[in-house]
Amino acid sequence: MTLQYKFPEGFWWGSATSATQIEGAANEGGKGKNIWDHWYEKESNRFFENVGPESTSDFYHRYKEDVQLMKQIGHNTFRMSISWARLIPGGRGAVNQEAVTFYNNVINELLANDIEPFVNLFHFDMPLELQQEGGWESRAVVDAYAEYAKVAFGLFGDRVSKWFTFNEPIVPVEGGYLYDFHYPNIVDARRAAQVAYHTMIAHAKAVEAFRTFNIQDGKIGIILNLTPSYPRSQNPADLKASRIADLFFNRSFLDPAVLGAYPQELINILREHGQLPTTEKGDSDLLKENTADILGVNYYQPRRVKAKDHLPNPYGPFMPDWFFDNYEMPGRKMNPYRGWEIYEKGIYDIMINLKENYGNIESFISENGMGVQDEERFLEDGEIQDDYRIDFIREHLKWLHQAIEEGCNAKGYHLWTFMDNWSWMNAYKNRYGFFSVDIKTKERTPKKSAHWIKRVSEDNGF
Ligand code: BG6
Repeated sequence: MTLQYKFPEGFWWGSATSATQIEGAANEGGKGKNIWDHWYEKESNRFFENVGPESTSDFYHRYKEDVQLMKQIGHNTFRMSISWARLIPGGRGAVNQEAVTFYNNVINELLANDIEPFVNLFHFDMPLELQQEGGWESRAVVDAYAEYAKVAFGLFGDRVSKWFTFNEPIVPVEGGYLYDFHYPNIVDARRAAQVAYHTMIAHAKAVEAFRTFNIQDGKIGIILNLTPSYPRSQNPADLKASRIADLFFNRSFLDPAVLGAYPQELINILREHGQLPTTEKGDSDLLKENTADILGVNYYQPRRVKAKDHLPNPYGPFMPDWFFDNYEMPGRKMNPYRGWEIYEKGIYDIMINLKENYGNIESFISENGMGVQDEERFLEDGEIQDDYRIDFIREHLKWLHQAIEEGCNAKGYHLWTFMDNWSWMNAYKNRYGFFSVDIKTKERTPKKSAHWIKRVSEDNGF
C-alpha cells in the first residue's frame, strides 16, 4: 500500500495526559493535597456538574489495563506527569514510598510494552502547602521545585530519558493571576509576571540539576502551548497588536526556554507599566546556560487579534489585553463544543517559526485534540463514531507532515488524550480520548478514532 503521508522512521505516536486528570486516588496512597483538591473542597460549584478530582479516570488502580490499551492502538510513547503532592506530600521533605512504587510500576509497565514514557514534572498541580506559602510568587518554592526535580531524576532517571519541567506554564499565570479560572483566583498582572518569571527560573534550575545526573540519552525540555497570533489585517495597528499578543502569550516562555533570554520589547512594556517582576543577581546567566534540549508544542487553536476598538479602562487592572482585542474572523471553522477555532495550518506555522527563529530545536506535537460534549450522541453499536476527531487529527497531521518535508525538526505527534479525563474546571464536560470512560463504572471503550490511529501508527502514516 502506498501511503500519501509517510512519517520519518521512529516517529513518536502516542498521547499525553497529566496526573491530576487521570490518577484519581486523590486521598489514597499517602498523597498530599494539591490546589485542585483544595479549590474543589472550597468551591465545588465552579466545576462542571460538581465533579471534582478525587477519582477522575482511576488510572492509579487501572494503569495495567490502560497500558495494554495503549499498546493495542500502536502507542510507542506516552507522556504522563508526576504528581508532586503524591511523590512529596506537602512539597518538601520525605518522599512517599507508595508513590515511588506506583510511578515505578507505571514506568516499568510502559517499558515492558515498548512504550517510552515521557515524564513531566508539573502540570498545574501545586502542592497546597506550597501555594499557602505563596506558590510561584515565592522564591523558596522555586528551590523546593528544584529539589523535587532532583528527587524525580534520581528515582526514575535510570529508565526515563525524556523529561519535561512544565506543561503550559503560562496557563497557571493566566488562570490563577489574570483571568480567574485557576486557584488562587488572583487578578494582578504584577503578581502574574512574578509567577511567570519564577516558573522559568524553576525550569532553568531543574535543567541545571538534570545536567549533573548521568542519564543515558537524557533530554530535558518544556511543553509550551504555542498559539500563533494572527493579525486581522496587514494594517500596522493590527500587526502591532498581534506582535504584542505574541510577546505576552508565546515569547514570554518560548524565548527564555529556547534562546535563554526574554524579548527586550516585552521587558520594555512591563517596565513602562510598572509590572516588572523582582529578579535576582545571576538569574540571567542561569537562564542563558540552561536552555531546553527539546520542546513539546501543544496546539489547539490560533489566536486572532486586532487593534483595540476602545481605550482600556484606566481604572481597571493592567492586563495584556490593553494592547489588543480578540478578533472573530468571519467564516472561521469552529469546534462549537469547546468554543475553539480549528485552524490546522497553525501547526505548520508554529513549526516554521521554530525552524527559522529558534534554531530548529528538536520538537514534537505534545498535545493536539478535540474536546466534544455529549459524545454519547455518536454512539453506534456500543462505540462512539468520532469521525470529527479523525478528521481533526488527519488534517493537522497533513500540515505537520508538510513542515517535516520542509526540514522542520518535529519528531512525533501526541493526542490529547488517551482516554477521557477530568479537566480543570470543565471536569468531564468535553471528552478528548481515543477511549471513552464511563465516569461511574470507569469502563473504557474504544472510539472509532482508536481503531484509526492504530492503523496510522502501525503504518507510520496514512
Ligand atoms: C491543555 C492542558 O491546555 O489542554 C490539558 O495541558 C487540558 O491539561 C487540555 O486538559 C484541554 O483543555 P480543556 O480545558 O478542554 O481540558
